[in-house]
Amino acid sequence: MLEIEDLHVSYGMIEAVKGVDIEIEDGEIVSLIGANGAGKTTIMLAISGLIRPSSGKIILDDVEITRTSADKIVSMGLIQVPEGRHVFQKMSVEENLKLGAYLRKDNIQQDMEKVFEIFPILKERRTQMAGTLSGGEQQMLAMARALMAKPKIILLDEPSMGLAPILVQEIFRIIKEINQSGVTVFLVEQNAKMALSISDHAYVMETGSIVLSGSGKELSESEQVQKAYLGG
Ligand SMILES: Nc1ncnc2c1ncn2[C@@H]1O[C@H](COP(=O)(O)OP(=O)(O)OP(=O)(O)O)[C@@H](O)[C@H]1O
Ligand SMILES: [Mg+2]
Repeated sequence: MLEIEDLHVSYGMIEAVKGVDIEIEDGEIVSLIGANGAGKTTIMLAISGLIRPSSGKIILDDVEITRTSADKIVSMGLIQVPEGRHVFQKMSVEENLKLGAYLRKDNIQQDMEKVFEIFPILKERRTQMAGTLSGGEQQMLAMARALMAKPKIILLDEPSMGLAPILVQEIFRIIKEINQSGVTVFLVEQNAKMALSISDHAYVMETGSIVLSGSGKELSESEQVQKAYLGG
């Protein structure tokens, strides 16, 4: 579904991504783990069309999107939930969700009900201003809003960041549920343990390059990964 071939991305003189290859099959959960500054967010921004790679290819469903505009990429069914919680603070939960569906006019109410089944807390708070939600609830709203666009593939950049342990578990449970509903998931996470436990495949990134890849299970058993990312 998504192929990244020999991707290079630079910020001025600094090369942040140095020839990365990633392959994501339809229906999978694939994660990318690695230390701060490794280049994970940069890869996501390049896929979404928000920064231009210096070279390499990004292919979505057999169509090259390396230089396609961000809004076109969204309309092709690829949605990114960025790092941090970007919800519209002064709008209600319901208004935020409607904005997520701005590219469509059909069945919005029905889709909202489906999203509320995944995130019951948002249904309870549907009329509340997004800015008054807790951090975890805002993270859920950001993910729910992305789902309103009915993506084929969703890119999640550190969805568990800053959440209490119990909410971290809840977010990972929800990611699995989203995937089971038919959405392919590409996940960037610092929480390597949880990410590997739900992933079909995973990649480990260090200073701009992929240094390891394998199934979630293989990587969680790898000595190198345990030492560097699982505290073992
Ligand atoms: N706009 C920018 N201008 C210059 N350098 C940047 C810019 N954005 C990121 N970088 C640099 O590129 C490198 C990769 O950053 P990136 O945000 O992709 O890392 P990351 O793996 O997502 O890290 P984190 O886990 O901290 O979110 C870092 O060295 C960072 O300082
Ligand atoms: Mg990042």
